[in-house]
Amino acid sequence: MCGAKCQGGTLVSADFDPVLIAALQSARRITVLTGAGVSAESGIPTFRDALTGLWQNFDAHTLATADAFLGDPSLVWGWYEWRRSQVLAAQPNAAHRALAELARRVPQLSLFTQNVDNLHERAGSVDVQHLHGSLHHPRCFDCAHPFVLPDGIPEEPAGGWRVPAPKCQACGGLVRPGVVWFDEYLPADILDGAFNSSRSSDLLIVVGCSGKVDPAARLPRDAKKAGRKVIQINLVESALDGVCTWNLRGRAGELLPELIRQAF
Ligand code: OAD
Repeated sequence: MCGAKCQGGTLVSADFDPVLIAALQSARRITVLTGAGVSAESGIPTFRDALTGLWQNFDAHTLATADAFLGDPSLVWGWYEWRRSQVLAAQPNAAHRALAELARRVPQLSLFTQNVDNLHERAGSVDVQHLHGSLHHPRCFDCAHPFVLPDGIPEEPAGGWRVPAPKCQACGGLVRPGVVWFDEYLPADILDGAFNSSRSSDLLIVVGCSGKVDPAARLPRDAKKAGRKVIQINLVESALDGVCTWNLRGRAGELLPELIRQAF
């Protein structure tokens, strides 16, 4: 059910289902899951959108696996430094700010993101749980010792974004990006926390996720099974549509502030 009227992906007027608004108003506990779509309006490319998605333009297997890193550390480190420079130059958008605001309006809100940027934190969200790690917390490939990045936005070197990976200050091993790569496990405590939180919340709100990447994509299904209501916000149809109680079609940066305006 679409609760908002949209034209060409843009919200033109909102007449949200009153049951949805009442569910927001009465929720004691809300879990939020965000994906790349929540940062799209900050200018950060998503992964799977046609033409602009990162995986349309780059090969995940040469950039987002441990083998790729060990085979060509400078290529992989440089690619993540390029992405970190984009994030640091970007600003949080209205969707990030609305979620920080929502946390102030409900008794308990837990925010889980698949994103490796820090835009939720910069918008004022606290205790953001990163299911896929963070661009901002690299660590040693060998001993996992955290590596402290220099302040500021990394600049593109004269020769382009092929950048030697730094050496670990503890053991001299190669420093790797602090993200979860394909074929790696998500941090178990954060993943368990996400399932427990969405199962025990009154509402799960899923924003800007294609629903194509497990295990995060299982969260809405699991919440539904546990009898929870699920709100999805996405520009277009997603693999999660059949699972969600409400599918709101439009830009997260327009729909989320409007939802909050109508509910509180
Ligand atoms: P995707 O790129 O797969 O999906 C982004 C979703 O956001 C799509 O469904 C878009 O329609 C939607 N979207 C785009 N702009 C939007 C906007 N302004 N408002 C609302 N929705 C919008 O990204 P994720 O689902 O987050 O993993 O992908 C999950 C994982 O796939 C990533 O964390 C990454 C990637 O491979 C790893 O690198 C391990």
